[in-house]
Amino acid sequence: MCGVVGYIGKNNGVPIIIECLKNLEYRGYDSAGIAVINEKKLKIIRKQGKVADLEKAILEEGRSFIGIGHTRWATHGVPSEENAHPHQDCTGKIAVVHNGIIENYLSLKDMLISEGHKFKSDTDSEVIAHLIEKYYSDDIYKAVKESIKLMDGSYAIVVLHSDHPNQIIATKNKSPLILGLGKNENFIASDVPAILKYTNDIIFLEDGDLCQIFNKNIVIRNSNDKIIDRPVKKIDWNYEMAQKNGYDNFMLKEIFEQPRAIQETIISRISEDKGKVYFKEINLSDEKIRNIKRIVIVSCGTSWHAGLIGKIFIEKMARIPVTVEYASEFRYSEPIINENTLVIGISQSGETADTLAAMNEVKKYKSSIISICNVVGSSIARISDGVIYTHAGPEIGVASTKAFTTQLVVLYFFSVFLARINRNISIPQAIVRMKGIRNLQRKVDNVLKLNSQIKKLAEIFYKKKNILYIGRGVGFAIALEGALKLKEISYIHAEGYHAGEMKHGPIALIDKNMLVVVIALKGRRYNKIMNNIEEIKSRHGVVIAIVTEGDERIKKIADYTIPIPDVNEFLSTVLSIIPLQLFAYHIAIKKGCNVDQPRNLAKSVTVE
Ligand code: G6P
Repeated sequence: MCGVVGYIGKNNGVPIIIECLKNLEYRGYDSAGIAVINEKKLKIIRKQGKVADLEKAILEEGRSFIGIGHTRWATHGVPSEENAHPHQDCTGKIAVVHNGIIENYLSLKDMLISEGHKFKSDTDSEVIAHLIEKYYSDDIYKAVKESIKLMDGSYAIVVLHSDHPNQIIATKNKSPLILGLGKNENFIASDVPAILKYTNDIIFLEDGDLCQIFNKNIVIRNSNDKIIDRPVKKIDWNYEMAQKNGYDNFMLKEIFEQPRAIQETIISRISEDKGKVYFKEINLSDEKIRNIKRIVIVSCGTSWHAGLIGKIFIEKMARIPVTVEYASEFRYSEPIINENTLVIGISQSGETADTLAAMNEVKKYKSSIISICNVVGSSIARISDGVIYTHAGPEIGVASTKAFTTQLVVLYFFSVFLARINRNISIPQAIVRMKGIRNLQRKVDNVLKLNSQIKKLAEIFYKKKNILYIGRGVGFAIALEGALKLKEISYIHAEGYHAGEMKHGPIALIDKNMLVVVIALKGRRYNKIMNNIEEIKSRHGVVIAIVTEGDERIKKIADYTIPIPDVNEFLSTVLSIIPLQLFAYHIAIKKGCNVDQPRNLAKSVTVE
């Protein structure tokens, strides 16, 4: 949440910072601001609203070769111009942008006020500017270094001082911050997509790193004040991948990118005819894997739903017990884990604060840690013993789509991988499991062809106030994810429920106004789910059923059916969520909602 950026170099930084902020806007979009140095004077412009509003306000501001910017997701203090970043000290010479939460800001603020500092905002972040002022004599680097010693909490901080127009100071603790290296110019930002237009050479900073960024070089010191060389990674994403490329918005683009994203996640990881899965990225010996007695998955949001499905895959194939934990609970739960436990963190961004904190907690117990991440080099990827990357490409829309389906694909293969190592399935059985995977891309393409049919359904139901989603087995997790998609982008109350629990409460909600979306695919639970549909229809509820192609029986009782290709239970998860993504999308568009930037949400939740 919140995006920070800084630029120093040979070009006019103003349009560059605005461009970077636009690419960071998915992290927060309630206000934005920029600070530049012109003739040794700080110029700051802040606006409540989107980066586009800020852009309009700064058109006449001229050139500057150094600047910082911020796009905000409010934690402390309402969205307003006063609370927007950059924040300043009393002298007006220091400007600070911050992502994170300074947990002890109240006591710091009291101290600073008693020393005569004047505050202008309700934010926690403003204390940073005044603390730096307190410690500043003539060395801005030292002032920042002293200031952070007093701060508790999480932060990615970027600082300008008008008397030092040749350098930007930046530091981080528990919030992401990356450096982008250019020719006679350098960048700092919360994440890679922000600066992809300008460079692919990225340094991922570690907690405690404190940097001086000049236009020709960067000096990084670690928490022991030692100058350190952090590796430069070449990121193979490009600028176009993080653009809308003709689509009206990122969400639709990302939904339609799923065939390619899935294919790229699969490629080079399996040999279908040999029944073999390759996960070279995991630094775990076969012996270590055979000793795994328990798996714990930690994640949040959509990634947590992927975890629920992963549990079913792994338990079925590898017969290892799995629990799926909300990352926000896990670290407070005194987990019962040890060196024979494998902890899997699932995170698209690799920066979700709760997931990161949960995985750090695991370190105490000597459990093995792997992660499934989409963003290369992200914090969660870096603290893991091994990381499996989904190759979804940058996901910008706040509602996760292609990251989810690629996570499912990885979990599917990972289950086969485990099952082969612990010999729970034979090679021929592994081959059977993998059969059809090559055709998955084509099948996803076919499901996407249902788009106009689903749009028509959305036009019928977009005025609903409540929608229930139900399913059994993997279908239950798909119901949860379908409901989440709808509520997050359309603001319609949507609830995912286990179909087997209908009679224990939710059936009381059914009347002619209630729409129920049922995941009703062929399989072991088919007859049971049919009973659920009958029960809903007997109470005059309206049913949209996601069904297996060719299922004529359901057509007779459900009001509407959406057929998906007949595949095994595991692969059906990938196909059955896509119509629900499209359904949520078209409803939200019909209601006039901003699908990429839904209210109150942010793509990367980097505060706990
Ligand atoms: C936010 C996003 C969701 C995402 C969740 C977990 O809530 O809006 O789309 O599922 O964070 O994020 P992660 O990056 O850890 O998967």
